[in-house]
Amino acid sequence: MPPLETTVTGIKLRNPLMNASGILGSRPEHVKRLVQAGISAFVSKSITPEPREGHPTPIIVELPGEALLNSVGLANPGPAAIPGLVDAARRAGIPVIISVAGTQPRDFLYVAEAAEKAGASAVELNLSCPHAEGYGLEIGMDPSAVRRVVGEVSSVLSIPIWAKLGVVDRLIHVAGTALDAGAGALVLINTLRAMAIDVYTRRPVLGHGVGGLSGRPIHPVAVRAVYEVYREYGAEIVGVGGVFDWKTAAELILAGARAIQLGTSLVLRGERVVAEILEGLERYMSETGARGLAELVGAAVR
Ligand SMILES: Cc1cc2nc3c(=O)[nH]c(=O)nc-3n(C[C@H](O)[C@H](O)[C@H](O)COP(=O)(O)O)c2cc1C
Repeated sequence: MPPLETTVTGIKLRNPLMNASGILGSRPEHVKRLVQAGISAFVSKSITPEPREGHPTPIIVELPGEALLNSVGLANPGPAAIPGLVDAARRAGIPVIISVAGTQPRDFLYVAEAAEKAGASAVELNLSCPHAEGYGLEIGMDPSAVRRVVGEVSSVLSIPIWAKLGVVDRLIHVAGTALDAGAGALVLINTLRAMAIDVYTRRPVLGHGVGGLSGRPIHPVAVRAVYEVYREYGAEIVGVGGVFDWKTAAELILAGARAIQLGTSLVLRGERVVAEILEGLERYMSETGARGLAELVGAAVR
């Protein structure tokens, strides 16, 4: 088995790197760019039952220390875009994960069924968007809502279900609930609810006020979340948050992630980060005598 090969819910990936939802994930031409960069699976922008315009501008600002603050507000083209995205990924020969968002179980089910029908490899339920009221985090912080959404989708779908969680007070409990309700994998973490204020206008910088923080500063939080959840359940985890180089990727893998998603680093550094991370991981593995990624997954926990 090639050293970087991995699997998530039975889906074979030739390396552990995919894009994070919301980053180059809304148009078929994005698939081509990401495949050329070397990613192993395509993750779509979160799709809601109806197209959404999102929040007023500015919706994204860069903060010091390789960070972004965004309140895109789940702007997305709606389910009509799913077949085009799935076809583009299928033609490129990589698995495709459709990210799904909504306010209630039937929203999630509607989009998830459209994804399965179009031929998606898995769905990723976004239970953690921190800046679209009623969506995401409001569900992900409430274990009974998580159970209803994941349970409803898993009772109908045959393809694997990944649940994307954010940082909430009782993360371990919520993670256990998602697994128990039928999630085959957990995606950890989403952006952290955050804000910046312009000291001259005396107003929040983002049009929406509150947004989600991503990039370098959230990496240690992601490592902690993956570590604690893996230690508790030994679950299949996709790690995301502040991965910029092979070392930050390796940390999440050692904490328990079997695959990694890249968001802010793709935005700030461009697609070349993918090849840099893959080369670095291979070098690290050969230098330390690791024969396959599986030996590293969760190694810091054991
Ligand atoms: C501009 C932008 C848009 C995003 N849109 C989504 C989205 O639609 N669905 C979702 O689950 N996460 C979304 N995210 C969160 C990312 O998928 C990821 O969880 C987060 O940015 C942390 O990873 P990073 O530090 O590598 O960026 C978005 C992030 C950014 C920066």
